[in-house]
Amino acid sequence: MQAITLAITGASGAIYGVRLLEQLLSAGCQVHLLMSSAAKVVLATELDLHWPAEPAECQQYLIAHYGCTENQLRLYAKEDWFSPVASGSAAPKKMVICPCSMGTLAAIAHGISDNLLERAADVVLKERGQLLLVARETPYSAIHLENMLKLTQLGATILPASPGFYHKPQSIDDLVNFLVARILDHLHIKQVISPRWSEYTLRT
Ligand SMILES: Cc1cc2nc3c(=O)[nH]c(=O)nc-3n(C[C@H](O)[C@H](O)[C@H](O)COP(=O)(O)O)c2cc1C
Repeated sequence: MQAITLAITGASGAIYGVRLLEQLLSAGCQVHLLMSSAAKVVLATELDLHWPAEPAECQQYLIAHYGCTENQLRLYAKEDWFSPVASGSAAPKKMVICPCSMGTLAAIAHGISDNLLERAADVVLKERGQLLLVARETPYSAIHLENMLKLTQLGATILPASPGFYHKPQSIDDLVNFLVARILDHLHIKQVISPRWSEYTLRT
């Protein structure tokens, strides 16, 4: 079972994080889930999702909702320093932050590690694992751009929440799937939710 750390922060685009969670679970991955406090506000604002505030309760709720096993979905509190994601000896080698706020991006770029989400990203960077940040803001300030450049130079991948339109999307779902498919491609997880470039060109 491939293990992935998925962090959802308080940037707009909670729907991307939720779709990615669904896809990772249906691909049979083990998901180590982290959520910031602001992420819960955005989930409620944008998707009317009111997941339980208490992590253990929320984990049980999501396991029941997605019909997965306890082993497949683990949710950690923001100061659960004994969780596997807090240490290079146990953390998954792949982590996605989707969507990623500019605040979290800045904290990671500067090694703050003040909560488990930031610490987990710091661990993946120091262990030379794969860190994908689905950054979302518009426009970007020089601070945002400098932080993104720094993280890219450290080996992270900035995969902005900027879906393409060349697949002629008919719905918000098409746009969301486009972006989530690119994330899955980067993680080398088989996906069938959105075709790749040559598959579009073959169709036209
Ligand atoms: C509905 C909503 C949308 C937001 N959208 C963004 C956004 O797109 N990008 C961003 O950087 N912050 C956005 N914010 C602000 C962040 O939530 C805020 O900076 C927060 O402190 C980020 O904390 P976190 O990184 O721990 O999740 C948004 C907040 C709300 C309530």
